[in-house]
Amino acid sequence: MDVFKVNGNVPLKGEVHVGGAKNAALPILAATLLTEEKVVLRNVPDLSDMRFMLEILRHIGADTIQPEPGVWEITAKEITHIAPYELVRKMRASVCLLGPLVSRLRKAEVSIPGGCVIGPRPIDLHIKGLKKLNCKVDISNGYVHVDASDIKGGPIFLGGRSGSTVTGTANIVMAAVLAPGTTRLECAACEPEVVDLCEMLVKMGAQIEGVGSPELTITGREKLHGCEYSIISDRIEAGTFIIAGAMTRGDVNVKGIAPKLLGAFLDKLEEAGLPMELGADNIRVTPYKGSLKPVDVITLPHPGYPTDLQAQIGALMTQTEGLSIITERIYPHRFMHVPELQRMGAEISIEGPSAIIKGASQLSGAQVMASDLRASAALILAALASKGETWIQRIYHLDRGYERFEKKLTTIGAQIERLSDKDIPKELLQY
Ligand code: EPU
Repeated sequence: MDVFKVNGNVPLKGEVHVGGAKNAALPILAATLLTEEKVVLRNVPDLSDMRFMLEILRHIGADTIQPEPGVWEITAKEITHIAPYELVRKMRASVCLLGPLVSRLRKAEVSIPGGCVIGPRPIDLHIKGLKKLNCKVDISNGYVHVDASDIKGGPIFLGGRSGSTVTGTANIVMAAVLAPGTTRLECAACEPEVVDLCEMLVKMGAQIEGVGSPELTITGREKLHGCEYSIISDRIEAGTFIIAGAMTRGDVNVKGIAPKLLGAFLDKLEEAGLPMELGADNIRVTPYKGSLKPVDVITLPHPGYPTDLQAQIGALMTQTEGLSIITERIYPHRFMHVPELQRMGAEISIEGPSAIIKGASQLSGAQVMASDLRASAALILAALASKGETWIQRIYHLDRGYERFEKKLTTIGAQIERLSDKDIPKELLQY
């Protein structure tokens, strides 16, 4: 298995380009099933999650061609309504096949994705939304079975205990675009990735009003058509590189990202005192002296602070003087990176859904284990600010969501290498 070896304490310097957003690309790939015509997608990131989704689309019957890197042509002429467990289990986001299958075929059988290390990931709101669209939904043998022969639009309140749902909104919007009548969706997720999906659907001929707001009005169409669409940039990747610059007191220009996609995140960094220059399509972090200030962060649905940048800002706060409190409201158990950061010398305690971080620790390299995608990113960030060598195992989690991450980091001066676990020095393995 691959591992990363990182030599830290090197200020990063240079330009880095952000790729396409994983969490927009996944539902957008699923949306190609809504038409029998060809859909051309650009700025598709090269990630293992994309490969899983493309494999499922092919299984369902779509033709997929990659004419050049980052571009996929998908034609879903004849498709089946079944997404089996062997494929779905590899990726939770495959649940967003439900909407397009229901819409196009009026039936779906999609395996329920398994558990997830960041905590429970229920799909009750997806099911509630489908029922409100007059679908019959039955869960048996690990599958969601949907009979949508009488599907029709109607009013739906899609909020749950934590507010809106991202893939739930994607699913219900995709289910409604071909349903007779009008669907009024309240408490829709407003994440930029949901907006991107809606904009792509509009390009396919869907009628959606209120895009970007929590209230969407969808008027069902008889058919959608093919389109060409370029996927939005990955704000989480951009945020991760910004923190990489901040942690190493580097000078890093993150290009290809509109600052307005990162409002709550940039606001927290400004509060921490991080010097930044914001352009129309770039964010530059510049070096600073002294310490950044501690911050209190609460993760919330967009436009609040994103949970997918919680572990990363936690890593940064290990380097600031004072106490920071990071409260996770979306996934209260999403702190699997904390014990690993503690192994590197971070002082963090977990109190319920909050991490209390006593900053200004001198981190030192250690052998650590990545538990999920964003935890992997936090460990790499901590390694970049550490003295000595860090070995990070299970980096396949990182490959799910960061395109060529170590290569991009290397171009801005990071000392990071992808090696095999066989290369880990024997003396480290004793611990
Ligand atoms: N929820 C329910 N019932 C549901 C659906 C969600 O109670 O039916 C709860 C969840 O338990 C959670 C909250 O609602 O507490 C929000 O979950 P949401 O449905 O919005 O999450 P998701 O759609 O499964 C997407 C991203 C995640 C990201 C979350 C929150 C994709 C493919 N995944 O997940 O991304 O953390 O939204 O923004 O878009 C990541 O990229 O690392 C990642 C985990």
